[in-house]
Amino acid sequence: MARPGGDDVRFDLVFRGGRVYDGSGRPPVVADVAVTDDRVVRVGDVPDRGSVEVDAQGLCLAPGFIDVHSHDDFAALLEPALPFKVMQGVTTEIVGNCGMGVAPFEPALALARSFHPGCELAPWAGHRGYLERLDAEPPSANVAVLAGHGTLRSAVLGEDCRRAATDAELTQMMRLLDEALQAGVLGLSTGLIYEPGRDASEAELVELARQLGEGGLYTTHVRSEADALLDAVAEALALGERTGVSVQLSHHKASGRNNWGKVVDSLAMVDAARQRGADVWLDQYPYTASSTSLAAVLASGSLQGHGRMGELRPQDVVLATVEGQPEWEGAPLGELARSWQIGVEDAARRVLAADAHAWVVVHGMCEEDVRRVLQHPATMIGSDGLPTSLGRPHPRLYGTFPRILGHYARDVALLPLERAIHKMTALPAARFGLRGRGKIEPGAFADLVLFDAATILDQATFDAPRRPPAGVRDVYVNGRAVVRGGRHLGTRPGRALRRAA
Ligand code: ZN
Ligand code: CU
Repeated sequence: MARPGGDDVRFDLVFRGGRVYDGSGRPPVVADVAVTDDRVVRVGDVPDRGSVEVDAQGLCLAPGFIDVHSHDDFAALLEPALPFKVMQGVTTEIVGNCGMGVAPFEPALALARSFHPGCELAPWAGHRGYLERLDAEPPSANVAVLAGHGTLRSAVLGEDCRRAATDAELTQMMRLLDEALQAGVLGLSTGLIYEPGRDASEAELVELARQLGEGGLYTTHVRSEADALLDAVAEALALGERTGVSVQLSHHKASGRNNWGKVVDSLAMVDAARQRGADVWLDQYPYTASSTSLAAVLASGSLQGHGRMGELRPQDVVLATVEGQPEWEGAPLGELARSWQIGVEDAARRVLAADAHAWVVVHGMCEEDVRRVLQHPATMIGSDGLPTSLGRPHPRLYGTFPRILGHYARDVALLPLERAIHKMTALPAARFGLRGRGKIEPGAFADLVLFDAATILDQATFDAPRRPPAGVRDVYVNGRAVVRGGRHLGTRPGRALRRAA
């Protein structure tokens, strides 16, 4: 019953007078945003009322952030509130990165246990089964999935993976990838420094990429991010140009002191490929430290000073998570070696004897490179957060998105806020085919984040990595509040997102 005076309750939710960043990269406009059910229905002047009215004056309203490089595949089921992400304003995560996927179940469970020691998961059948599990047990954020090449390869080759696949094995992997694509995964990821991905031949990768079809999505942790970075980037770009797939270089960086500055060249290669018409993208987390397993660092030879991770100093490698030895967490390996009066590699072996899955933070990048990559127009934001409940994980798990907005966009003024927001909203939504996400416009899903541009900032540090960020006030997923007043409500309105047919 319409009454004059504009005081009808016509919407579920109306945000009043916020600075609306629509995700497109354009500067904000002050507007009202009305939501009904799970959708934005009106942007501009909204005379009618909402059942819930949110005063957004002085705050920024943006599309919810999309974490394009997540490892929350299992956390989404084991810790479905995903507080470390939604408290940052993340409303959608792309899981299955670095070749580490959710199916087949057996190798996926082994991966799950490397992130979440001792975890129990009821089995699911294939990627379809995983997505249906998310439907039945929804997390707080939306989740979209990449098939992980390493996991497909483990399922087919088993332990005997330090070799090329036979034709029959490749056919089996292709069958598994077909199941994934039918189930609605967005694409394929590879992790070419890890077992079992590292022994994949170029032919194997090309065949699997072809199966994605023209314009299919291929994301890759390339074979080297250190001395052989440029060869590794060339391999990924060549694969894209040979097969017609769209290539995304994961967590792009140059690691090792002797390699600092090489991203100038790698980005020039990306630009040249794009000028030739190739569809190439990057993702990045905004820190000069990476995080990986201590076993991988030891195997790289870089603890000797120089190896496959480039030149590292013993003090650059800091223990993050060592089960049963929390007193070692936070200590540089070089310091432990000194106190034990043994060599650095022996110290690493001693740590691995205590916990074969020990994780480290590696301070191996330079600030200028981080900034160069972040400024590139093809760069999206991905936390690469490792969702462990133990030890001192890399603070990117809790801080990536507010760090971009508060530190790099506001304090360093490296890029305008609207461009930073674009990199975490409409750009990844378009690139991953997430229809109706990443924008504030009528018809879009109401994934929204309300934050204070003056105070938003990461608070997680290497010493205290679990601090939630400042300045993120409210987060909505599919029209429902998940965070209000900076507090997680425990609601779980997230959805499994499948590739649009
Ligand atoms: Zn990776
Ligand atoms: Cu990763």
